[in-house]
Amino acid sequence: METKQILVIHGPNLNMLGTREPETYGRQSLADINAALEKAARAKNTDIQIFQSNHEGQIVETIQHAQGVFDALIINPAAYTHTSVAIRDAILLLSVPVIEIHLSNIYKREAFRHKSMITDVATGQICGLGTHGYLLALEAAINLIRK
Ligand code: DQA
Repeated sequence: METKQILVIHGPNLNMLGTREPETYGRQSLADINAALEKAARAKNTDIQIFQSNHEGQIVETIQHAQGVFDALIINPAAYTHTSVAIRDAILLLSVPVIEIHLSNIYKREAFRHKSMITDVATGQICGLGTHGYLLALEAAINLIRK
């Protein structure tokens, strides 16, 4: 069986995890999250590629190039979740499972975070479970691919 490829995209300011608002996002750095994802993916014989950007256009282009290359997308669009029609439209180009993930529970926070441009074009959403949510997203993506 061919190894499945999963793309993980982290949006703006997630490169600052560890020191950024730790009471909301926890103390793990992005490198810690990525290492945990890579370890979990290896254990499941899955390849993951991880990309972080603070730039909307770079995220859009990365999603555009994912079609035909990756079997699933896990994305934390961060602040772009609430604003980006462009990222939403790029996701609509994909025919593979897409998991939206947030460290915090966006529905318990400021009203402007309650609206996601992504949720209704994603396969599913995980939020509020901290860094462990990424591992749940990976598990969900692998399950969806194998279905
Ligand atoms: C976030 C939630 C967003 O509202 C926020 O802008 C982020 C991170 C999360 O993971 O909880 O940057 O996506």
